[in-house]
Amino acid sequence: MPDSSKHVLLVEDEAALRQAVAEQLADRGYQVQQAESGEVAIARLADFAFDIIITDLRLPGVDGAAVLESAVGRYPDIIAIVVTGYGTVKDAVEAIKRGAWDFVSKPFQIDELLHVLESALEQRRLKSENAYLRAQLDERYQFSEIVGKSRPMAKLFQLLETVASTSSTILITGETGTGKEVVARAIHHNSPRRQQRFVALNCSAIPETLLEAELFGHVRGAFTGAVGTRQGRLEQAHKGTLFLDEVGTMSPALQMKLLRVLQEREFERVGDSHTIKVDVRIIAATNSDLGRMVAAGQFREDLFYRLNVIPVELPPLRDRKEDIPLLVQHFLDRLAKEGSGSRKGPTERKSVSQDAMRRLMAYLWPGNVRQLENAVERAVAFSAGRPQIDVGDLPAEVQQAQETVVSPVVALPEEGLDLDAFITNIERELIQRSLERTGGNKGQAAKLLHIKRTTLVEKLKRLDRR
Ligand SMILES: Nc1ncnc2c1ncn2[C@@H]1O[C@H](COP(=O)(O)OP(=O)(O)OP(=O)(O)O)[C@@H](O)[C@H]1O
Ligand SMILES: [Mg+2]
Repeated sequence: MPDSSKHVLLVEDEAALRQAVAEQLADRGYQVQQAESGEVAIARLADFAFDIIITDLRLPGVDGAAVLESAVGRYPDIIAIVVTGYGTVKDAVEAIKRGAWDFVSKPFQIDELLHVLESALEQRRLKSENAYLRAQLDERYQFSEIVGKSRPMAKLFQLLETVASTSSTILITGETGTGKEVVARAIHHNSPRRQQRFVALNCSAIPETLLEAELFGHVRGAFTGAVGTRQGRLEQAHKGTLFLDEVGTMSPALQMKLLRVLQEREFERVGDSHTIKVDVRIIAATNSDLGRMVAAGQFREDLFYRLNVIPVELPPLRDRKEDIPLLVQHFLDRLAKEGSGSRKGPTERKSVSQDAMRRLMAYLWPGNVRQLENAVERAVAFSAGRPQIDVGDLPAEVQQAQETVVSPVVALPEEGLDLDAFITNIERELIQRSLERTGGNKGQAAKLLHIKRTTLVEKLKRLDRR
């Protein structure tokens, strides 16, 4: 810890727990004052400028949220850490929105709390030392590499802004090509760890036997072919971010080991007994339904909860059609900058005919943004010599895409269709359109659809979950 000792206010109504944590903190050189209730905590805060406040969210009487508000309101620079019940992520996210630095969930190991504290102090220190530099960096605090203006994306940006500054573990879910890796990188580059490394490991791309060594490193002779000692990705990501892609494919044995890393922030290299401590933020991603895998006994429940501290769900492209023109422009810009085909260097930026754009927007994009990106690149190549991309330049399946709603006649395709999904889509589409037309005013939108406002709100909630 730097220079003078730090003053901590510890707010917890369970006496035994409070006492134990206070002692441990005192052992590490913190000056601890205890408060057994929200009322006492607020009174203490009025008298003394603590460096750190650690508060339980659930307190009898004045609760933790009020304590937090009082602390952060009075001392914007205080480091506030909240303690939440097991699995109450919502409360934690809410607390962070209100100015908490980070959180730990009960039950926690003292090391976990110390880890959070120390990394908060370190980040605070860097922040004040580099105030100028940071101010400059702050201007870049944005997610410009992620394109999208639709409602689901606006929600996503809001969440990303909230969580980027923390060290909390994040689980990104979404279909293939929805941008999980892009989002993981963006979180890292907008986090206090941005100066350190972003290390990615795709768990499904490496054979099971090698994955362990890849993650934890190994010592010489640990297994056949281990000629030297090597650092694993975890060590490489020390102080930075480790991105664990396709985490659902991990074997039970490795799941167990990863759980330990998440709980204790420590591990051993393969073939070694020496324990290594790391400070790593973990972002995991998966396109499988981990919740379902837990239910089926294919994924450890405890690991799932440790990973799913902050769930980030990426919407499929078909649920945010209005972003398609933006994405198309984005890819066209990029292709023009890079130059395409045999011509290297900047080329003229192509445009897209409205007819082609309509097909692009009607297609359902099972491969999501990646598939769209490929289609645009292909269309640029196919339209060589012409300034505008037209329907004929698009992949065959996109050319055939039908706009389901705009067409006045509902056609039944040869192969039939999924009635529920079809109707849900129409409902979603009409609600979106009415919201667009009324500038997001739910009352007016409901009127347009001849339904009650409450019905509209309910439908929105239900559709959001799909
Ligand atoms: N919102 C977005 N804005 C701009 N580009 C995007 C966006 N989302 C995805 N992309 C682009 O789409 C491609 C696929 O993204 P990414 O690799 O992050 O997807 P993924 O979800 O990790 O896919 P997979 O599950 O197949 O690994 C990348 O080239 C990325 O640049
Ligand atoms: Mg990926």
